[in-house]
Amino acid sequence: RWTTFSICSPKVCIVGSGPAGFYTAQHLIKVDIYERLPVPFGLVRFGVAPDHPEVKNVINTFTLTARNSRCSFYGNVNVGKDVSIEELQQAYHAVVLSYGAEGNRRMGVPGEDLAGVYSAKDFVGWYNGLPSCQELSPDLNCETAVILGQGNVALDVARILLAPTDILKKTDITQPALEALVQSQVRRVLIVGRRGPMQVACTIKEFREMVNLPDTRPEMMADDFEGVKEALKDLPRPRKRLTELMMKTALEIPSEKEQERQSKASRVWAFRFLRSPIEILANPDNSRTVGIRLAVNRLEGSGDGARAVPTGEVEDVTCGLLISSIGYKSLPIDPSVPFDSHKAIVPNNMGRVQHTAGLYCSGWLKTGPTGVIATTMNNSFDTARSVVEDMESGTVDVSAARPGSQSISGLLEERGVKPVTFSNWEKIDSLEMSRGEASGKPREKLLTVEEMLQHLTWTELILYTLKGNPMFFIMDAIINKLLQCKSIQMV
Ligand SMILES: Cc1cc2nc3c(=O)[nH]c(=O)nc-3n(C[C@H](O)[C@H](O)[C@H](O)COP(=O)(O)OP(=O)(O)OC[C@H]3O[C@@H](n4cnc5c(N)ncnc54)[C@H](O)[C@@H]3O)c2cc1C
Ligand SMILES: NC(=O)c1ccc[n+]([C@@H]2O[C@H](COP(=O)([O-])OP(=O)(O)OC[C@H]3O[C@@H](n4cnc5c(N)ncnc54)[C@H](OP(=O)(O)O)[C@@H]3O)[C@@H](O)[C@H]2O)c1
Repeated sequence: RWTTFSICSPKVCIVGSGPAGFYTAQHLIKVDIYERLPVPFGLVRFGVAPDHPEVKNVINTFTLTARNSRCSFYGNVNVGKDVSIEELQQAYHAVVLSYGAEGNRRMGVPGEDLAGVYSAKDFVGWYNGLPSCQELSPDLNCETAVILGQGNVALDVARILLAPTDILKKTDITQPALEALVQSQVRRVLIVGRRGPMQVACTIKEFREMVNLPDTRPEMMADDFEGVKEALKDLPRPRKRLTELMMKTALEIPSEKEQERQSKASRVWAFRFLRSPIEILANPDNSRTVGIRLAVNRLEGSGDGARAVPTGEVEDVTCGLLISSIGYKSLPIDPSVPFDSHKAIVPNNMGRVQHTAGLYCSGWLKTGPTGVIATTMNNSFDTARSVVEDMESGTVDVSAARPGSQSISGLLEERGVKPVTFSNWEKIDSLEMSRGEASGKPREKLLTVEEMLQHLTWTELILYTLKGNPMFFIMDAIINKLLQCKSIQMV
């Protein structure tokens, strides 16, 4: 699978170790990956819902790539801060930016920063163990939660809020999140979209999961589906099937068995359509949210391109928790890198960053924050192809040798930055899995960068002591094995 070159040893580095970073790396002959966190895999670790473990299997392929001697992983390196893009460009023939979309779109309405209002990005980061989101501790002490946006992230959040904790406790959800969800008072989740049922952004698999979610029942409104049946025949097949399932959920009388299940359900979810946020409502002392004011919309046009237009009517919905799930957003990394702040992407042509030879982008940074892992894979392969073509055609000059990681490692050392290697990540991985095993979960994630680095320092200390010993390599293997055992949990 590795592309080979007639030219000698071109040096390429990738910034970010999410799916885009790894899929780009898969197609390059020799590559260094710089990752801000000590742990790899981006949103596969910190985004994908804990109750979707099968999606995380892509990690196995990424691990094979990372273990290959052609690929080196440098975790704990914050590009843009610890090392600049210009320094990477001097050290490498090509630099691929794959640092994802770490910001979020804002609603741009008054009250957005009130307590009780969260972005889905932070909420997801919280339950998935993203170190920067561990302070969030969302207040779940209310009956109704409103989620704005009707994409798959909105559905992930709704499911996590409503799923029986007996299911969640067998996943890699973090322990603090699990404990908060056990105590949660949330009984009703409204998933609010600015357009109609035929414009929802979620997919059928995720909607079906909501329909089948144990101990919950849907509360859809029949009126929302007026005229939808007539439009079905013109819809593309995936949209048609999804709309049919929504209609069935909203309009059909369920089977007796299903009625019985629903009557016993303690929690409710619903889709609300044609509603846009105009203000987050605060309690009298303005300290936290008590609801949201929504503009009632009508649709102009039809199909995917239909536009929401306010009718002038407004509606207030009472809620104690508001999660805005209207999309992630890439952020500029360095003033030297072109950035289209309107689209929030690095402007590019097939991954080639405009006006900057030798600089590329892939993944969500290249396309904007939509697309599943498979979409990200394809766009990353395209970028890798562009890199290879440019090197072969001479558009990127690889005739003069570049120092690659050698010079960057020197800079990092001068700056007191200690990169985490892939085998060091595997030590963290082993520890997390053994901690998880102890509580019947696939893993119990370390929740702070300090904890992660501390664990490595401890391991290193033992190995350092043993290094003078001729038995070092055998001992290294034994230590690694032992670290998987519960008896040597140090953190
Ligand atoms: C909540 C959520 C759930 C999802 N669930 C699914 C799912 O179930 N199935 C599916 O197919 N797709 C899912 N997706 C989509 C999938 O996660 C994306 O398609 C994919 O992760 C995008 O890959 P990426 O590499 O561009 O970005 P990311 O995965 O975000 O990776 C970017 C990486 O860059 C690193 N980075 C950031 N800044 C720097 C820096 N300055 N220096 C160095 N490194 C840096 C980050 O730490 C991160 O590791 C989900 C997305 C979200 C948001
Ligand atoms: N299980 C999975 O496979 C899975 C899970 C999670 C995420 N993902 C993928 O990850 C990607 C990102 O998901 P996402 O849910 O963050 O994004 P998304 O699919 O783009 O959905 C965003 C939602 O926010 C709405 N929205 C955007 N701007 C708004 C505004 N200003 N006011 C009100 N509503 C607004 C959109 O409505 P409009 O349509 O009207 O713009 C849409 O309903 C998607 O491709 C998704 O499929 C996949």
